[in-house]
Amino acid sequence: MTHSGDCFLVPGPVRMSDACLQAMATPVMTARGPEFRQVMAELNSGLRHAFNLTPSEPKMKTQSWTGEDGYKVVVVSGSGTAAMEMVIANRFRSNDLVLVPTNGKFGERVADICKRFCNVKHLQYEWGRSFDHYEIEQQLERGCYEALLICHNETSTGITQDAEAIAEMCERHGVAFVLDGITSVGGMPVHPAKWKAEAVVMGAQKCTAGPSGIAAVALSEHCVERIKAIDQQGETGPRYYFDMISALKKGDDDQTPWTPAINLAMGWGAALENLKVEGNETRWNRCATMADGVRRLFLDLGFQLLADDGQRSNTVTAIMYPEGIDDTWRTALKEKYHTQVIGAQDHLKGKMFRVGSMGETPVDEMVEGCKRMLACFREFGHDVPEIDVDAYFA
Ligand SMILES: Cc1ncc(COP(=O)(O)O)c(C=O)c1O
Repeated sequence: MTHSGDCFLVPGPVRMSDACLQAMATPVMTARGPEFRQVMAELNSGLRHAFNLTPSEPKMKTQSWTGEDGYKVVVVSGSGTAAMEMVIANRFRSNDLVLVPTNGKFGERVADICKRFCNVKHLQYEWGRSFDHYEIEQQLERGCYEALLICHNETSTGITQDAEAIAEMCERHGVAFVLDGITSVGGMPVHPAKWKAEAVVMGAQKCTAGPSGIAAVALSEHCVERIKAIDQQGETGPRYYFDMISALKKGDDDQTPWTPAINLAMGWGAALENLKVEGNETRWNRCATMADGVRRLFLDLGFQLLADDGQRSNTVTAIMYPEGIDDTWRTALKEKYHTQVIGAQDHLKGKMFRVGSMGETPVDEMVEGCKRMLACFREFGHDVPEIDVDAYFA
């Protein structure tokens, strides 16, 4: 089937389904009554599924936030950055040292947040280059780190870290492993329990196609114990709204400490129900099909991809502009071809564009979007031969 209408191929926020939008249009309810507690239970159960954790019942008063694997999911009213800050602010003491390897903007943001709360060794790799695992191993051998934190899927550069290998190193060295999974959870395999991750963060508006402004964390039993112990010893840094202890106290009751983002929670619950129906693996595969098609198509046409081969992301592809083309192409693509992709950040601004392949985007929309991108490149004078775009996504 050919896609008609706008193509929205941005790596979040992504388009929301009618079910998600309609759920948000539900009339107001109180934050403490049974209606909202039921909303929370459904959301918790959907989150456990998206995080690839053991299931829980979508029913209030059944401890929907936890399951057999011992992980707890905590909903945060705020975007992904808020959830990341909440984990870091509560899990580390000011004298803890953490290791943060980065290869893009969002990893650097993780390092930046950490600097507000603890000591940081920042291993800063060039944007889009793989981490040097030998260097990470050498650092961990020093035995001085409380944790290693990564941005699992670096949206700014389109590279996915080898989380499994890093998890194995962390386990061997007895170091906590924390992931910004904001553009990986729901869009590619993430295994918090298998990787023994202490905390994984996700944002609604990315791979799960929920609304912006709400996020969640999955915390291991050990992480919860450490957070409580640090609090009891009076060693937690300053925080109030983001106090995890308050959130943990309310979780048993399907509640949040402060007035939650009620309508966003309803919308996200509906979006997560769509994910349950599609299934994690089917969604991961759809994202992979779209990203693989985009990569092969543009490489065959002589374009360059920013990220190192072998670690290219299945939820976002960073493509360098050919000589002589800049972001005016993106404006034309939006205005004349009704197709949106996103530009680059910081020093790469105007040098590349990024194509998102996440959420509920149908493959047909990606195929049509690619055809329009190629037409727009031709209009800008770039020599693009006729090519069978559909064949790349078959
Ligand atoms: C990997 C990653 N981490 C963190 C963020 C920041 O998330 P938010 O804008 O939801 O705070 C983003 C947003 O694009 C992201 O892609």
